[in-house]
Amino acid sequence: MRFSSTLLAVAAALVVPALALDPNNCNTSDKKRDGADFILVEQADNANVASLAKVLKRVSVASVFKDGNHKMTTDSAGRKLWEKKSGFDDEDTDKWVPQGISSTADALDAGTYEGVDGWVVSWHRSDDKSARITFVNRSNDTYRHALLVYPHAADNFREVPIHAGGIMWYGDKLWIVDTSNGIRVFDLANIWQVDTGDAVGKSGDKYTAAGYRYVVPQIRWYKWSSSFPFRFSYLSLDKTVSPPQVLVGEYQTSTSVPIRMAKFDLTNSTTSRLEVDGNKTAKAAWAYCVGIERMQGAVSANGKIFISRSNGKSAGDMFGWVPGKAAHNNAGFFPPSPEDLSYDKRRGGRIYGLTESAGKRYILDYEAKAVKFS
Ligand SMILES: *[C@@H]1O[C@H](CO)[C@@H](O)[C@H](O)[C@H]1NC(C)=O
Ligand SMILES: *[C@@H]1O[C@H](CO)[C@@H](O)[C@H](O)[C@H]1NC(C)=O
Ligand SMILES: *[C@@H]1O[C@H](CO)[C@@H](O)[C@H](O)[C@H]1NC(C)=O
Ligand SMILES: *[C@@H]1O[C@H](CO)[C@@H](O)[C@H](O)[C@H]1NC(C)=O
Ligand SMILES: *[C@@H]1O[C@H](CO)[C@@H](O)[C@H](O)[C@H]1NC(C)=O
Repeated sequence: MRFSSTLLAVAAALVVPALALDPNNCNTSDKKRDGADFILVEQADNANVASLAKVLKRVSVASVFKDGNHKMTTDSAGRKLWEKKSGFDDEDTDKWVPQGISSTADALDAGTYEGVDGWVVSWHRSDDKSARITFVNRSNDTYRHALLVYPHAADNFREVPIHAGGIMWYGDKLWIVDTSNGIRVFDLANIWQVDTGDAVGKSGDKYTAAGYRYVVPQIRWYKWSSSFPFRFSYLSLDKTVSPPQVLVGEYQTSTSVPIRMAKFDLTNSTTSRLEVDGNKTAKAAWAYCVGIERMQGAVSANGKIFISRSNGKSAGDMFGWVPGKAAHNNAGFFPPSPEDLSYDKRRGGRIYGLTESAGKRYILDYEAKAVKFS
């Protein structure tokens, strides 16, 4: 036995791996990083969701789509604009700003959800003290906003103070980034209809939500748990790989700081969770120092990564990137201020996007093949 353990020790000494590259320093020629250094820990489900579900009226996703009370219009370039009419203006308001986009094609492989073909869009309030989402029925462009809520007590909920920079609809859950903290997960199996009123939460024997008819509660979250900071600016779903993955990435205005992306493996859409170990810990399957400034969104499909970059008031850029090769800049591809991206394999492959600036606020729908890669 002594002989063989000596042999093992020699063998081990010969396979000492190269020193792992620092995940928090991108100043190296090799830009790949060890995904295992990027760690999210799943937090326990919020039990208050189940207790509130006993007292609030639960409605289906289809019934919220069906209850659309606003309507988008389409301009000559095929871009969708938010409703703007006397006394109501989602296109120009400074109070709410659209950030993230996903669709029923992300939610389920069938592409539709409860019979509906639609988008979901996340918005942050200008003070970042509240966030909302919008269900858009693509068949007739009607839409309805709903408020995101955090059930902080067995009988009460409050607003969710996040920037909501990216959204991903996977199964009956909505995944939304929470900039420095990680990812929050909201439960579409528990959309609740509330009473009319300006307050948010329980008021007397009623529940209200700042005038919104529907609320969607946070059910769990994934806490960023590495020793270095990571900025959760956007996220997206890739179902062209097995297992499916969620991509998260950082918006930064200067390459003097690391600008990275990471991908985590997902369970199937029925359970809609990160793959975690026995300690509820998820380590990224892939991480990379991308180093492109002002990335506002990115989505990976069929081994290619589509990246949006904002350029202030000028047209936005779309990068086509295959990791390991140089990214190709499709300069000026977007209207100004593009944000999050999402992929739909239907109709030959589509890339969905949106822009945030008042007056030029669109939902965008492109052929994926219009994007050039190097
Ligand atoms: C590169 O190194 C410099 C000097 O140490 C440091 O200030 C900077 O943050 C590093 N950049 C990245 C992207 O890690
Ligand atoms: C869109 O479809 C919904 C559901 O059928 C319907 O209630 C609504 O009136 C339609 N809206 C328009 C503008 O066609
Ligand atoms: C979406 O709009 C289409 C077209 O008007 C309508 O037939 C359908 O019922 C709508 N879906 C829902 C869930 O309201
Ligand atoms: C999804 O995963 C769960 C847990 O592993 C499993 O029980 C279920 O059968 C899976 N569903 C599908 C549709 O594969
Ligand atoms: C879970 O954490 C404990 C304590 O740190 C450790 O001993 C164990 O190996 C971990 N389990 C897994 C599956 O990583």
